[in-house]
Amino acid sequence: SEYTTIVTETRGRVGWITLNRPEALNALNSTLAAELAAAAVAFDRDEEVGAIVVTGSERAFAAGADIKEMAGKSARDMSVDNPFAPLEDFARVRTPVVAAVAGYALGGGCELAMMCDIILAADTAVFGQPEIDLGVIPGIGGTQRLARAIGYYKAAELVLTGRRMAADEAERAGLVSRVVPAADLLAEAGAVADRIASRSLPVAYAAKQALRASQETTAAEGLRLERTIFASLFALDDQKEGMSAFAEKRAPEFRHR
Ligand code: HXC
Repeated sequence: SEYTTIVTETRGRVGWITLNRPEALNALNSTLAAELAAAAVAFDRDEEVGAIVVTGSERAFAAGADIKEMAGKSARDMSVDNPFAPLEDFARVRTPVVAAVAGYALGGGCELAMMCDIILAADTAVFGQPEIDLGVIPGIGGTQRLARAIGYYKAAELVLTGRRMAADEAERAGLVSRVVPAADLLAEAGAVADRIASRSLPVAYAAKQALRASQETTAAEGLRLERTIFASLFALDDQKEGMSAFAEKRAPEFRHR
């Protein structure tokens, strides 16, 4: 592929993105942020792709933003020329994204996992927001998404102390949907993604959009949006097919696009 910090591949209807900076435990530098966003957006535009998996290595999903690249930056560099701006495109793709996390998911790595829709963890996974130890705070969603995911008080403890949290604690806290043996992580992530991608693509987009409203808006507005989206799905063949198939006791044949 044309990328230097990630590897991409399509398997069936699933787009795979593997972070590939082993020398830096997949630390997110500006190149990786741009390539990751470009790859996700390309998969998002591809009608043959119904789900995306993002993963790292056995040792690290991502050990954070690249500290060496960031160290000398100015406040202006980080705001006006924000090297992580492309990740906003990553976080906004319509396609459901599964994070398959083994090893370290620290700082920007934990934040990247939280930009995805489902987080599956190997039993080796370690989550945390250690930015406080570097004299900064999380900057790509950590304070907001972690607090919504695991509650204010537990998020505050992690952000204010920098303490790391193992996979089982992350699962109990509700950050991770399932912990699996490390050897099974990619197969499990593939199975979850295949299952998502086997359904109607526009309906998956609709479900993700409505779910995202729960994180981004008030309950009243989210409920209104859900009702509107729900009703609009009755204009799609896939709704007719899904409900006819149920009545006819057969498997539905969704159109995938
Ligand atoms: C740059 C990193 C890195 C990082 C690891 N490396 N994390 N380089 N940025 N975030 C590099 C190391 O310098 C080292 O390079 C190589 O990867 C292997 O790491 P080691 O430290 O030797 O491995 P180990 O002893 O196993 O320790 C693993 C670790 C530790 C616990 C994950 O590397 C670590 O604490 N990393 C930093 C974690 C962190 O603070 N993340 C938050 C970053 S701030 P060499 O060349 O020495 O072999 C952030 C802000 C996000 O994410 C918001 C942005 C807007």
